[in-house]
Amino acid sequence: MEAPKIKAVMPVAGLGTRFLPATKATPKEMLPVVDKPAIQYVVEEAVAAGIRDVLMILGRNKTAIANHFDSVPELEQKLSEKGDDRKLGHVTRTSDLADIHMLRQGEPKGLGHAVSRAAQHVGDSPFVVMLGDDLIDERDPLLPKMIEVNQQRGAMVIALMEVDPDHISMYGCASVDATDDPDVVKVTDLVEKPAKEEAPSNLAIIGRYLLTPDIFPVLERTGPGKGNEIQLTDALKDVAVDPENVDVYGVIFRGRRYDTGDKLDYIKAIMRIASDREDLGPDLRPWIKEFAATL
Ligand code: G1P
Repeated sequence: MEAPKIKAVMPVAGLGTRFLPATKATPKEMLPVVDKPAIQYVVEEAVAAGIRDVLMILGRNKTAIANHFDSVPELEQKLSEKGDDRKLGHVTRTSDLADIHMLRQGEPKGLGHAVSRAAQHVGDSPFVVMLGDDLIDERDPLLPKMIEVNQQRGAMVIALMEVDPDHISMYGCASVDATDDPDVVKVTDLVEKPAKEEAPSNLAIIGRYLLTPDIFPVLERTGPGKGNEIQLTDALKDVAVDPENVDVYGVIFRGRRYDTGDKLDYIKAIMRIASDREDLGPDLRPWIKEFAATL
């Protein structure tokens, strides 16, 4: 689907403490998932949905991300002299993918604060916020449906996924009403990382949000919430419960998603993606079976 005016905003400010020591000097978004850094999958997902303009909100120590999406003339020239077009393609692909803009977050005051920094860049069009820890399998596109719901209803749209009730405390959680589309719900309330007993549902926010600029004044007046951080979930709750503001809808995602922010899920993501790849799968799949038999 073409979405020429929609820009993507990617907050990449997290410290990645769950992956120490790997993330001591390397941003967690640069950890490889098979042979591409996690953040490249997210940019490719945006591009596949027709988005050409990406704004990254960077925290400290994120220079490697800026370098990854920049061109490297010396390397390109060497590979071109050698006639290694395949490797040259890998190098130039990341710099040609999209128009990537970078902005420093400044003080790390939470996801809501990071998103509020994008106000000037996005202007008066809807935009998507994409979190780097959540990888959506390219075979199960999610953004096109979210863009469609935004265009039909003029609403903000968040991606929701049913999770094990034991895990809801790791996510923003939504109260919803059904609509005539089984994959679309109207969001009536939101709570950031509730205890299992207090969660209104098992519908978790996954890291894709289609927001309208109406979010910015709400973020401005949102105080610190969970973890003493300015939470995007709290601002979205205010929008959802305010009859004067735009509506908030949820698209229920039933496809393959990988949480690369969690160590075990990160390993599973690599195994699943590699075993489905044409270049690696044929050798990896029988090995996995042999290995599993030894466990
Ligand atoms: C953030 C959001 C949370 C959302 C999650 C999705 O939390 O605050 O509402 O469910 O992303 O990955 P984080 O994982 O950054 O703590």
